[in-house]
Amino acid sequence: MTVGGGSVLGIPPSSEGYVLEARGLTKRYGSVIANKEVQFGVRRGEIVALLGENGAGKTTLMNMLFGMTAPDAGSVLIDGGPVRLQSPRDALALGIGMVHQHFMLVPPFTVAENIALGVEPSRRGILDLSDLEAQITALGRRFGIDIDPRALVKDLSVGQQQRVEIIKALYRGARVLILDEPTAVLTPQEADDLFKVLRGLAHEGTGIVFISHKLREVLDVAHRIVVMRRGAVAGEVLPRDATPESLASLMVGRDVLLRVEKAPSVPGNPVIVVRELVVNDDRRVRAVDGVSLSVRTGEIVGVAGVQGNGQTELVEAITGLRATQSGSLHLGERDLTRATVRERTDAGLAHIPEDRQRHGLVLPFTVAQNMILNRYYRLPFSRWMVMQAKAMRDQARDLVGRFDVRPANPEARVGSLSGGNKQKVIIARELSRDVRALVASQPTRGVDVGSVVFIHGALIAARDAGAAVLLVSAELDELLAVSDRILVMFRGRIVGEVEAATATREEIGLLMAGGVGRVIVPATN
Ligand SMILES: Nc1ncnc2c1ncn2[C@@H]1O[C@H](COP(=O)(O)OP(=O)(O)O)[C@@H](O)[C@H]1O
Ligand SMILES: [Mg+2]
Repeated sequence: MTVGGGSVLGIPPSSEGYVLEARGLTKRYGSVIANKEVQFGVRRGEIVALLGENGAGKTTLMNMLFGMTAPDAGSVLIDGGPVRLQSPRDALALGIGMVHQHFMLVPPFTVAENIALGVEPSRRGILDLSDLEAQITALGRRFGIDIDPRALVKDLSVGQQQRVEIIKALYRGARVLILDEPTAVLTPQEADDLFKVLRGLAHEGTGIVFISHKLREVLDVAHRIVVMRRGAVAGEVLPRDATPESLASLMVGRDVLLRVEKAPSVPGNPVIVVRELVVNDDRRVRAVDGVSLSVRTGEIVGVAGVQGNGQTELVEAITGLRATQSGSLHLGERDLTRATVRERTDAGLAHIPEDRQRHGLVLPFTVAQNMILNRYYRLPFSRWMVMQAKAMRDQARDLVGRFDVRPANPEARVGSLSGGNKQKVIIARELSRDVRALVASQPTRGVDVGSVVFIHGALIAARDAGAAVLLVSAELDELLAVSDRILVMFRGRIVGEVEAATATREEIGLLMAGGVGRVIVPATN
């Protein structure tokens, strides 16, 4: 690590008062330019949101500022002077802390023990744990972070674990804190609590970089918003001058529509009927714990919940990708509990999978080939076991147009398309046949904002054409915009149901945290 006065290297000291600054940072990965001459900075006491779609280059930029990735060109400045960060240790020593998306805590240890883990023993000799506990409590009090230093990390909620990571960074003297998509794993209430903590930190002088792709949050918490698009800074705005639409346009580089029109649903008979379903996860732990639900023709039922509460396993069981332990699944009158994936497809069940790369698409195949993956074995595509090239091409050309796949080339390899366009290929394939029921899992994850409205429109169109739609999503805004009813999943169970038209984010958030339709009474002891 080298720290030098700016003038030595011919770089003028920052005139912007940045504590941490990127100047002309460039990073390539093969042919991909992950960051292109990026200028970025954060001041003392300022919350800067770094907003951008998947792949825009946010994490790459932060990794360079945190010493995890070496830039190809450009410089990092701290307090206006250029530094060379060769590892996160260098960054920490200069007061830069980072909270990663996946926490780096040891579950059987206490909070204090976890914080002690990162501290260099050479500097402090043998650590006195009770002394450390007192310091953690003091730090928590100063920054308004409620945490018990003696609690075991494994007993803490995700939101509390995140606070431990924050305290850990503060304990090591962080003056700038970088948080990479910190709300992805939180309930709305936990996110609000985090924002309070961030405001408190900023008030005490800490500079905060808050990475997100969620417009609402960014508008809520940031003092300043920097938008990245395709590796470069696309613009910088103040929240009071921005709207969700203007931010979305900056993110994708063209005007986008954020709302989709939807008439009230006219539900009919139950189509997807799940009774007392029990499903294990990969570790043979019960992930779905007796779920019953039904989705009627002409309605969209949303499933809300913090990631990892059994939603994935529920979808996999319904679509035939995972075995069930007990319980049943019917599609109308038909018992599909033990049916194969193909039998379910043929019975009229369509699936938009969470993991497109693994279950949805064959990346080296063309768009046209991918569009018939679910019926290549049938007429008109296959006749006496011979693939019918022309039928396939005609179908693909029609679908590419109708579902707005870009580029509009059926011969393009699917692997070369953007996330949003990959998803449109799957949706085109799944919805271009007679569909009785559709299970959509995280249908807009990693999809550009411009394609989100199109996908929402496609789900609603499927509903209006009479399909029963089950929509599982981690995005509450998506569930509220698209669903008719919303079920909330917590620890493998459905813990509540609300009408989408009248539900509030708070109400759903409480259920997501396990507040099982409980009557909240004041504590008596
Ligand atoms: N270690 C890596 N190797 C190869 N490509 C990478 C690597 N890290 C990031 N990229 C690519 O750089 C681009 C920016 O990625 P990233 O910084 O992770 O974006 P974001 O955090 O905004 O989603 C993407 O195209 C991504 O695939
Ligand atoms: Mg990222």
